[in-house]
Amino acid sequence: MKKDTELVSRKSDHIQINLERDVRSALTTGLEKYRFIHEALPELDLNRVDATLRLFGKTLSAPILISSMTGGTDRAGTINLRLAEAAQSVGVAMGVGSQRAALEHPELTATFQVRRVAPDILLFANLGATQLNSGYALDHCRRAVDMIQADALILHLNPLQEAVQAGGDVNFAGLAKKIEGICKKLEAPVIAKEVGWGISERTARLLADCGVSAIDVAGAGGTSWSQVEMHRAPDEFTRQLAATFVGWGIPTAESIQIVRKAAPNMTVFASGGLKDGLDIAKCIALGATLGGMAGQFLKAAAISTESVVEMMQLTKRQIEVTMFACGVGTLEGLRDGKLVNT
Ligand SMILES: Cc1cc2nc3c(=O)[nH]c(=O)nc-3n(C[C@H](O)[C@H](O)[C@H](O)COP(=O)(O)O)c2cc1C
Repeated sequence: MKKDTELVSRKSDHIQINLERDVRSALTTGLEKYRFIHEALPELDLNRVDATLRLFGKTLSAPILISSMTGGTDRAGTINLRLAEAAQSVGVAMGVGSQRAALEHPELTATFQVRRVAPDILLFANLGATQLNSGYALDHCRRAVDMIQADALILHLNPLQEAVQAGGDVNFAGLAKKIEGICKKLEAPVIAKEVGWGISERTARLLADCGVSAIDVAGAGGTSWSQVEMHRAPDEFTRQLAATFVGWGIPTAESIQIVRKAAPNMTVFASGGLKDGLDIAKCIALGATLGGMAGQFLKAAAISTESVVEMMQLTKRQIEVTMFACGVGTLEGLRDGKLVNT
């Protein structure tokens, strides 16, 4: 099979495997070790609790992000449209999956384009940072942003995923300098993101020095991409290699705090294994600005737009009720010593 066709079939495999197989990390997010302090007399009206925020020039009704997932096939295009319709209706942020397939096959562009159903959402473009070592440069980043009229570009960092798949792009040498170049020249903000193994102190410092506008920790505790690759391994050697790393990574709760400490002024997005609005609220309390979910939204989008809307509304309400029961009326209030490590 040519590498090109492989790229598209890989996208279908990813959706299928994530929907049908157990791809969970052997680690937990670490968020279960925290609980909020309950206030029996919150002195608030639940209906006036305000979970809204402004980010990159857009207003969100709650700090919820549909993490970058897909595009490149008809099914992926339908999933993107359902996610985007729901994001527009509830007022949350969304990322599309890696746009490399569309940059290399322009006929796939439409499967990433969601602005016609989501004119107002905070929308993130997506490319693998490692592509900057395989001929991609500023122009490709610009085209990815323009293709979907995105508000910012996410560059994903997935060294382990590339390392445990047959024919992965494993040259990550000298990437920081190239990311820095993109941050300096791209008109849109650049966000760096892991895919489920978290961001360390050293990586956070490097990324801050590159000039990224935000870091999405995408920590361990949810979807494990080595498990996804294990399920699509072409041979026993690759299968065993991928299976080795089921317990790898920095749990999400730990990574948020590490990044906050290493780069105190950095905007932090939390994702990786978040299961509901209570988890998102805990991430906000630990210093994140947004909480993202991928696998969970994918399952809802495989059913219908309404399923995604329902899940988002529940997630939003879970955040609001958490704030209410902690006695805080704004998201900033959650950071005010409301969380205890049990
Ligand atoms: C089907 C699927 C495809 C994904 N593709 C991408 C991608 O193209 N780019 C990216 O940055 N992350 C991608 N991810 C990773 C997610 O954005 C997220 O970081 C990861 O799944 C952990 O979040 P979760 O535990 O909520 O699933 C994908 C996730 C899923 C489930």
